[in-house]
Amino acid sequence: MSTVNRRSFLQTLKALSAGTLLSSFSQPAWSRNLQNALESAQSKTPDQLASDEDFWYFIQQSYTVSPYLINLNNGGVAPSPKPVQDAMKRYFDMCNEAPSHFMWRILDQGREPLRKNLARIAGCSAEEIAIQRNASEALETIIFGLPLKAGDEVVLAKQDYPNVMNAWKQRELRDGIKLVWLNLQLPSEDTDYLVNAYAKAFTAKTKVVQLTHVINWNGQIMPVRAIADAAHQKGIDVIVDGAHSFAHFQYTIPDLGADYYGTSLHKWLSACIGVGVLYVKKEKIKKLFPLFAPPDPTLDDIRKFEHLGTRPFFIEQAVGKAIEFYEMIGAQRKEQRLLYLKNYWMEKVKDIPYIKLGTSMKPGFGCGIGLVTLDQPGIKPVDLEVFLWNNYKIHTTNVDYENIRGVRITPNVYTTTKQLDILVEGIHEHAKYRTKFPTGPLDQK
Ligand SMILES: Cc1ncc(COP(=O)(O)O)c(C=O)c1O
Repeated sequence: MSTVNRRSFLQTLKALSAGTLLSSFSQPAWSRNLQNALESAQSKTPDQLASDEDFWYFIQQSYTVSPYLINLNNGGVAPSPKPVQDAMKRYFDMCNEAPSHFMWRILDQGREPLRKNLARIAGCSAEEIAIQRNASEALETIIFGLPLKAGDEVVLAKQDYPNVMNAWKQRELRDGIKLVWLNLQLPSEDTDYLVNAYAKAFTAKTKVVQLTHVINWNGQIMPVRAIADAAHQKGIDVIVDGAHSFAHFQYTIPDLGADYYGTSLHKWLSACIGVGVLYVKKEKIKKLFPLFAPPDPTLDDIRKFEHLGTRPFFIEQAVGKAIEFYEMIGAQRKEQRLLYLKNYWMEKVKDIPYIKLGTSMKPGFGCGIGLVTLDQPGIKPVDLEVFLWNNYKIHTTNVDYENIRGVRITPNVYTTTKQLDILVEGIHEHAKYRTKFPTGPLDQK
């Protein structure tokens, strides 16, 4: 470099603040673009932003999702954005330098800050949050830990999650408790019907009601608070399965009226796979027995539920980054976008002959999850799932369970409306094809 060039280079360098220099050289393009998109989003309301494809395109670029398929089964488990994946990999590498040192002495120092961060987004005290491996573990800890005796009644629904139902059946078998099953007619936009279905089942022997906040089969939002209030009036404990609602739409756990609550963080929070949360209301902690015994199971310390043995702390600690990512998007913006995406595709298919929607489009009764089926004799929900995969490489899952039938569609914040247009085309073509050839092969349109 000549003397003149060197001087002008140094002058330019001086003009740039250290911060600008750092960010412009070290920030990858996707992250710079995202930062710009977030800055220009500040002037928009969450409602306006919900349909702003440019903004959500930059959110998509924070993920490493495959461009070769369209993943519309984010309800099963969601991918993590890059900063979360990177944190997990960094912590994993660190653990492998000397696992017992870095995992138990270094990384584990992040446990209490993580508990506080989780409590902040859950709207409760950190003293009510235990870190688990998934919703099943959290909910089974509650189900097996409650002091119930033979003859005590538990009200639950056939539309609850299978692991939860199985845990209750096992308790029935071992302890002689009585399970009182509801068979809900869904979807429903009738709060009175949903609340009364539970309230009518409560008797003097009912000790617990098991509730699912968002029914996984079709995305129905349940009026959990009203049912919890009815239960509490009779001294009944309330368990809420929040696997599909946490970080999907806004609420606090205490708002739900839950005494006990469990969720996974690898669904809507987009944390790494294998982490969840157990919430126990402060005054209920003492009497709930942990599934994995601590030295004193009768303590009223929430940490007694974390004696899980050796486990991947690098996954737990990366949750902090998932919380940052969630808060960076903004809870309200995320909720509005997910609702927008659900209504976007549902509006476009709802009038196709024989297409039946299995999820409410009314706010308060439905969220980002939608169920759709071709309502023709002899046509199974799996037909549409296979058709979408074979012809469009759209990944979904089908439901054919009790009175709920259809293909479940769960977009995420990285889903674009272009992708949903392909889904809409697929549903159109399936309806046309299947009405003409009810038994034809599913790899042809
Ligand atoms: C309603 C509901 N509860 C609980 C679970 C269990 O979640 P996990 O498999 O992460 O334990 C799921 C999983 O899909 C679910 O949909």
